[in-house]
This record gives sequence, structure tokens and C-alpha cells, in this order.
Amino acid sequence: MNFPNEITIKEVGPRDGLQNEIQMVPTDAKIKWINLLSETGITYIEVSSFVRPDWIPQLKDAREVAKRIKRKAGVIYAALVPNLKGLERALEVDIDEICLFISASETHNRKNINRSIAHTYPILEAVANEAKANKKLVRGYVSTVFGCPYEGEIELEKVVTICDKLFSMGVDELSIGDTIGISDPVQVEKVVSKLLHYFPADKMTMHFHNTRGAALANVLMAMNLGIKNFDSAVGGIGGCPYAKGASGNLATEDLLYMIHRMGIKTGIDEQKVMKAALFIENHVNNLASHQMRIVKGKH
Ligand code: HMG
Ligand code: MG
Repeated sequence: MNFPNEITIKEVGPRDGLQNEIQMVPTDAKIKWINLLSETGITYIEVSSFVRPDWIPQLKDAREVAKRIKRKAGVIYAALVPNLKGLERALEVDIDEICLFISASETHNRKNINRSIAHTYPILEAVANEAKANKKLVRGYVSTVFGCPYEGEIELEKVVTICDKLFSMGVDELSIGDTIGISDPVQVEKVVSKLLHYFPADKMTMHFHNTRGAALANVLMAMNLGIKNFDSAVGGIGGCPYAKGASGNLATEDLLYMIHRMGIKTGIDEQKVMKAALFIENHVNNLASHQMRIVKGKH
């Protein structure tokens, strides 16, 4: 297999992780956690979400979190933004990167953002234009690419059309989501090869949820095809509350363990990441990380 010398890991725990927790994690704990993550060498942290607070109450304190975290030079602080109202809130607190999101499944898109895919495009385009006018980076998430809990298999042509549409809006990169952790390396090969036929690898990030334990194998396949950017969440927490059956992201510490032992660089300190994982363990219910089980002597 053909592996890169270095990859970039993008930490989505404070957003994707905490949005799926039953209880809202106290604001002070979120801030302390993000500050610990900022000291690990991670260069990208999705800190929260400026969606409708009654849709994701766990992140209703996005403004306070973004205002009170200690920002470290060289770290991009990103947040999810569904529409212009969300952008207005994100700009008020100077979020660095605006993350748009849309689903490749019509049904999941409606359940998640209350619009058809066709009606979502102009909303995202307006947000992308306004974000760019404010000199912000823009990321585009495409969800349920590998399968949808409501529609099953998703046509790859549909995914390509959505990716193309997002790039035409000026997004800086895409994050390709296996929202319900249903993929396997053979499907990853099929999807990634197809996308790389149209779009450059350096503008693609893979976002694997580890619901069925295949996320690390999927990372290997994606790296072999030339992908060098991966989303993950410290503690392996996460999931989309509007995608039935979605559970945790690939754990950042599990990804680091494998990658570093393969001789691939990330610039991230594993011990500091474990410190951040041990901290957030006190506040969440759904920790799903092999490294944490080892540290706690539960293996
Ligand atoms: P809607 O009800 O259709 O919104 O929700 P609307 O535009 O009709 O507005 C209705 C009211 O909400 C108005 O207030 C707006 O001002 C307010 P009123 O005039 O009635 O008083 N409103 C807002 N308030 C604060 N912030 C906002 C906002 N927008 C409207 N941004 C909407 C549509 C998209 C807002 C809603 O469906 C929503 O917030 N959905 C978010 C769901 C979500 O966050 N899902 C999880 C993230 S996606 C994910 O996890 C997948 C991912 O990880 C990738 C993967 O795993 O594949 C990214
Ligand atoms: Mg996700």
C-alpha cells in the first residue's frame, strides 16, 4: 500500500461529539476541553454549531464557548452553520472557518435541516458568499455518502453533483461523511476513487463514524488512494441526532496510535490528547475509544 508521510487530523469532538450527548456538557467544561485540545498540536478544532438551539440544545452555548476559549495561533477554530442567521451569529464571535452541511440523501437532508436538497443550495450559496466576503474559510460537509438510515444506498452520481455544487460555491474543502458508520474499505475505494476522478485530494477530508468498527480500515484505504485529511473526535464520541443509528466518530487517540506507529507524522502529541480525553470522560456518556479503555485498565 502507498501511505503518505504526513496527514492532518481535524478535531470535531466539541461539535459532532457533544451534539449527540443526552445531557448538555457545562459551558465551562467545554471551554476547558477546547483549551486542552488547543495545546495538543491539533491545528483544527470544530468548537460548536450555530444551528437552531432548539434543534441541538447541547450546543446552544456556541456564542459563549467561542468567545471564552483561549485561541492559539495556528489553530483554526471552526463551527457548523446552516443558514445566514447562523452565519450572523458565527461572525459575531469571529469563527475562523464556516462549515456548511448538506446530505446526499433527500430524506436525511429534510430531517436534519428541514429543506429539500434543491432548496438547500441557495441557502448554502448565500452563506458561502457572505462568509467569503468576511474573509472566512468555508468547508462543505456532505453527509450519508456511504448510506442513509432512511434511504439505504446513495447513488454516487448524486454525491458527485453535490460536491461539484459546493465547490462551485467556493468552498475551500469538502468533508465526505459516513454519518452512520456503515462503510467498509471496498466501498471507500469505490467512493474515493470516483471523487478523486473529479476533485483534488488535498481538498477532501474523510469523516468516518466508527459505528461498526471499520473506521481505521477505511482510513487506511483512503490514505492509500491519496487522502491526507481526516476528521476524528477525542474519546470517540459523536453522531447526528437526526440520523437514526448514528454513533461515535473515529476516536482521535485511536487514529493517532495507528498513524504514529506507521511512521506517519501528524504534529500531535498523543499524551496531551489522552489528557484531553480523560478530562472529557467526566462529562460524557458515550466514550468509545480503545486507548481510553487501555488507560483505564478495562482491556
Ligand atoms: P427551520 O425551522 O426550517 O428554520 O430550521 P427557519 O429558517 O424556518 O427559521 C425558523 C426560526 O428559527 C426563526 O425564528 C429563525 O430566526 C430561527 P422566529 O422568526 O420563528 O423566531 N433560526 C435560527 N436561530 C438561531 N440560529 C440559526 C437559526 N436558523 C433559523 N441558525 C434549520 C432549519 C437548518 C435552522 C434547523 O433545521 C437546524 O438548525 N438544523 C440543524 C440540525 C443539526 O445540527 N444536525 C446535526 C449536524 S449535521 C451532522 O452531524 C453530520 C456531520 O457530522 C457530517 C457527517 O457525519 O456526515 C456534519
Ligand atoms: Mg458526523
